[in-house]
Amino acid sequence: MSSETAKIILNGNEYELPVVEGSEGEKAIDISKLRALSGYITLDPGYKNTGSTTSAITFLDGEEGILHYRGYPIEQLAEKASFLEVSYLLLHGDLPNKQQLAEFEGNIRYHSLVHEDMKRFFEFFPSNAHPMGILAAMVNSLSTFYPKSQDPHRPARDVERTIHRLIAKMPTLAAISYKNNLGHPIMYPDNRLGYIENFLYMMFGLPTEPYEVDPVVADALNKLLILHADHEQNCSASTVRIVGSSQSNLYSSISAGIAALWGPLHGGANQEVIEMLETIRNDGGDIQKWVDKAKDKDDPFRLFGFGHRVYKNFDPRARIIKKACDEVLKKMGVNDPVLDIAKRLEEIALKDDYFVERKLYPNVDFYSGIIYRAIGIPTRMFTVMFALGRLPGWIAQWREMVENKEPIGRPRQIYTGATKRDYVPVEKR
Ligand code: CMC
Repeated sequence: MSSETAKIILNGNEYELPVVEGSEGEKAIDISKLRALSGYITLDPGYKNTGSTTSAITFLDGEEGILHYRGYPIEQLAEKASFLEVSYLLLHGDLPNKQQLAEFEGNIRYHSLVHEDMKRFFEFFPSNAHPMGILAAMVNSLSTFYPKSQDPHRPARDVERTIHRLIAKMPTLAAISYKNNLGHPIMYPDNRLGYIENFLYMMFGLPTEPYEVDPVVADALNKLLILHADHEQNCSASTVRIVGSSQSNLYSSISAGIAALWGPLHGGANQEVIEMLETIRNDGGDIQKWVDKAKDKDDPFRLFGFGHRVYKNFDPRARIIKKACDEVLKKMGVNDPVLDIAKRLEEIALKDDYFVERKLYPNVDFYSGIIYRAIGIPTRMFTVMFALGRLPGWIAQWREMVENKEPIGRPRQIYTGATKRDYVPVEKR
């Protein structure tokens, strides 16, 4: 709580409200008692200026382009840490020591198989089913295989097991959905491999030949997952928290987060970006034409991978990814014409008044798809990769909501419909 207060004057009545200050100096007027005091609520569609919670997980300064997980700058974590280390950090608040990390990795390894009966579900999805739809369904289905997870009052060690199961099984489920789509036999996890390597093996390994994980690919994927691991109260994290606030189980809360992430304005943008860049290329590469379309208010087209609700200067994740993208393509000897279009598009858009005035910069999704492509991930799986990365963040957000004993999420509204009227029987209407 800060020593500052805020005053609101309504109809001549003055209400003094407390100000809350965060550890990085962010400030909020606490309006939680305003309605009880005055009868008024606040209105903020899309929650553009509303803090839904206090949180100790991720700090983000959109003006300065700063992103910290539990105090650690994203640049350092992406450069030096492993994804499971970062997952531990998000979940537990501190980086693990050697023993804690080994234990955590062991727990994840232990749960990497999915129940054999789940394999049968995959057979009934249409062959062209979107993998995000499959992932959301499968993660929700996990709750039926572990019915104890539905008890909101179970002991902490059982909750921990659910967390391990989720982190362990998501890559397995994602890889099965890919194999199923190809019509290839599924590859069971090989627990001698690390988390990232195992995922690559399940995706790209075949029973007919040995599979060697390319360390350049594993490194790139490690970095991408870390960059996606949390992003404070975004659409999907807020969804996870709000679903969980009804004491719905963790699997279902995460499944709801996956559904929220799927949308093209959120995580689904990474698929849209590559499809957009390919469309521009197939259309002859006239970038200005597409920039003009994005600016035309009568045209629903938007430049995917541009703009962000909170970053109004630059997205620090996009900077790291752009550099990683150059490095990965160089190391792998890939020459992707879509990368040239991306770079030219960025250059043109960043000089354009429309984008400058609205502070629209490339976001995390702008370059990530180019790396995913280079390492062989099919376009329709891009958002699944985002979900794999975001999973520890969602779980950390869910757990914080539970531990803080937050009340059920339930916004209010200002009603604008018809006022009271009497029912008229159908024959008289
Ligand atoms: N192309 C063209 N115009 C845009 C774009 C864009 N990508 N993004 C925003 N604008 C315009 C928008 O039309 C509006 O113009 P005006 O003030 O004239 O009405 C202004 O910029 C503000 O946009 P907004 O939609 O009110 O901003 P928002 O904070 O509600 O939306 C956003 C943020 C990310 C949904 C939006 O920028 C967007 O749709 N971007 C494209 C989709 C995308 O790349 N999403 C991935 C976000 S990063 C990954 C993640 O964390 O989800």
